[in-house]
Amino acid sequence: MELNLLGKTALIAASSQGLGYAIAESLVREGANVMISGRDDEKLKQKASALESIGMGKVAYQRADLTKATDIQQLVAVTAETFGGIQLLVNNAGGPRAGAFEELTDEDWQASFDLNLLSYVRLIRESLPYLKMQGGKIVNIASSSIKEPIPGLILSNTFRTGIIGLSKTLASELAPFNILVNTIAPGRIATDRVKHLDQVNADKLGVARESVESQVKAGIPLKRYGTPEEFAKVATFLLSEANSYMTGSAFLVDGGMIKAI
Ligand SMILES: NC(=O)c1ccc[n+]([C@@H]2O[C@H](COP(=O)([O-])OP(=O)(O)OC[C@H]3O[C@@H](n4cnc5c(N)ncnc54)[C@H](OP(=O)(O)O)[C@@H]3O)[C@@H](O)[C@H]2O)c1
Repeated sequence: MELNLLGKTALIAASSQGLGYAIAESLVREGANVMISGRDDEKLKQKASALESIGMGKVAYQRADLTKATDIQQLVAVTAETFGGIQLLVNNAGGPRAGAFEELTDEDWQASFDLNLLSYVRLIRESLPYLKMQGGKIVNIASSSIKEPIPGLILSNTFRTGIIGLSKTLASELAPFNILVNTIAPGRIATDRVKHLDQVNADKLGVARESVESQVKAGIPLKRYGTPEEFAKVATFLLSEANSYMTGSAFLVDGGMIKAI
């Protein structure tokens, strides 16, 4: 299968580690140019140098706090300037605060809206003039909470479904420009975020994190967490030219965890 990613430019938000970084690595291996971003310059510098050592696509990094409109504007402008355009956009961000409804304040709700939904809107708005030039692909990272609410994660359960409404609507609005918009919903992919959530649940129950982890894995038909590399393969396909007819869809990468049809 020809992916034809050589020389394409990808802007990947929140990509200094975890799922975003794995997508960056996969795209660089296919010869794409990637812009990685996050809030920590030193971490970005190290990760960019690791990606460069692959010796395929070009790599740049830009510090950006995704809760700030001006940082997003700058991130998109610097990407386009560095590589001469943008054809691929991966919307991603840090995870929202864990907590049940009665544990959260207006500030928590606002912070998660800014980070987990408004940042996607802003990244798309700023990138659109470039994506429209030759057509392109947008991949939004959400969560399995788009199919089944996760207990104790009401912010994710609320704002991730917003991503679905946004994606589905944009798939129609942007089809005339040959811009394809899809969402990927991770179940349990082994990253720091999942470790953190397992720790939160372990602390609540007064048990070790490993015990929560084993229990969660037991409920996954494939009996393990996915790897960021497995997740990145799906994103790479959706961003590639091999995907020419899928838009407005959401894809679970969850080892069979979600039982809903
Ligand atoms: N892993 C899973 O199985 C899973 C499942 C469901 C949903 N998700 C969601 O998928 C997204 C990515 O998850 P992950 O597992 O890759 O998480 P992760 O390992 O914690 O990585 C999060 C990334 O986001 C960046 N980030 C956090 N806050 C930011 C901000 N305000 N501005 C810019 N960058 C920011 C972090 O870099 P800095 O801290 O350096 O800024 C880091 O690069 C999260 O929203 C997570 O909730 C993941």
